[in-house]
Amino acid sequence: MENEFLELIKPIIETENYQKMKNYFHHDTTSTYEHSISVAYLCYKYHKKHNSKIDLYSLIRGALLHDYYLYDWHHKNEGHRLHGLRHPKTSYKNAIKDYGPLNKIEKDMILHHMFPLIIIPPFTKAGWILVYYDKVATYRDYKKNRKGKKK
Ligand SMILES: [Fe+2]
Ligand SMILES: [Fe+2]
Repeated sequence: MENEFLELIKPIIETENYQKMKNYFHHDTTSTYEHSISVAYLCYKYHKKHNSKIDLYSLIRGALLHDYYLYDWHHKNEGHRLHGLRHPKTSYKNAIKDYGPLNKIEKDMILHHMFPLIIIPPFTKAGWILVYYDKVATYRDYKKNRKGKKK
């Protein structure tokens, strides 16, 4: 990973709460921590490849915090039902608390990343980039884990 990318993610990923995401499984054995960094990196690569005018700082923050819900969603008995629909709001609230204030781009990215499961689409380009790369990373997470199981 490029130094510029590592410098951008450092202030967030080195905090105690963000490190907790290493313990929450997101997709099979991929942690929410690993998943979120992969998504942020895909967004970063997109930005560089397309010489994007989108604010890189916001794009990376929105990507890093989109799944900042801070629990293991597999534990249904702990009140995490309807996780798919609710976690964007939980992530947003947690993100404001720990890294706020958030700007309009970051807010849009986090709240609307589950489109089309949630019916309201993003209204920023950064939001659409996240919708796309979150799904790419999710597909890769499951594929990687399935490969691992076959061995
Ligand atoms: Fe999510
Ligand atoms: Fe995600």
